[in-house]
Amino acid sequence: MTERGTFITFEGGEGCGKSTQARRLAEALERNGIEVLSTREPGGTVLSEKIRGLLKDETEDPPCDRGELLLFLAARAQLVANVIAPALEAGKWVVSDRFRDSTLAYQGYGRGLPLDFLDQANDFACNSLKSDLTILLDVPPEIAAERMRAREAATGTSADRIELAGGDFHARLRRGFMELAAADSGRVTVIDASGNEDEVWERVWKSVKRFL
Ligand SMILES: Nc1ncnc2c1ncn2[C@@H]1O[C@H](COP(=O)(O)OP(=O)(O)OP(=O)(O)O)[C@@H](O)[C@H]1O
Ligand SMILES: [Mg+2]
Repeated sequence: MTERGTFITFEGGEGCGKSTQARRLAEALERNGIEVLSTREPGGTVLSEKIRGLLKDETEDPPCDRGELLLFLAARAQLVANVIAPALEAGKWVVSDRFRDSTLAYQGYGRGLPLDFLDQANDFACNSLKSDLTILLDVPPEIAAERMRAREAATGTSADRIELAGGDFHARLRRGFMELAAADSGRVTVIDASGNEDEVWERVWKSVKRFL
């Protein structure tokens, strides 16, 4: 029987470096002879990428908080059923840029929906799948904002609907992620993501090595 693959997720607020480090991790695992499936949330299947568009685009009819939650969960259910679970079964490692902790942070701590319900809803959407390791990249908001500005300038893109959430939303998110990590320290590793890319990568790789 094929041994089940390892499931690693990256979490954290916008601009902390999730996509950068997820890509580096997938490349490093492949160099070590591991077959890797990389994915991102919301997205990762044809249907889920369409839902991503619905969630991110500026619109005259933005989803209400509960509708937003259900769209995220629909995208996640499709991704788990059709992509992540089959890959893990086949022995591949899966690296996902965001997963279910983002729902607890954004919809729970950010928007104020009840955490216990979100946990159950996540279990339902994921058929109870959880990551083996979640890497929470933590940076002070000023550094994240600076990275986002640099990226926008370099790529000509602008912030999306969720990134534009104002007030103390981003401070609540950061606190939320840290509380989630503290409550589940066996699964979640917090990494200081404020150094340069190589420095952060060294910390990431150190936390993954024990799974090799
Ligand atoms: N350690 C780092 N130091 C400086 N810049 C970085 C670092 N890591 C990533 N960057 C740059 O900062 C920007 C944001 O990084 P990245 O896109 O990986 O973050 P993200 O967490 O995926 O953001 P988002 O939540 O918006 O998808 C990118 O332009 C990236 O090249
Ligand atoms: Mg990203």
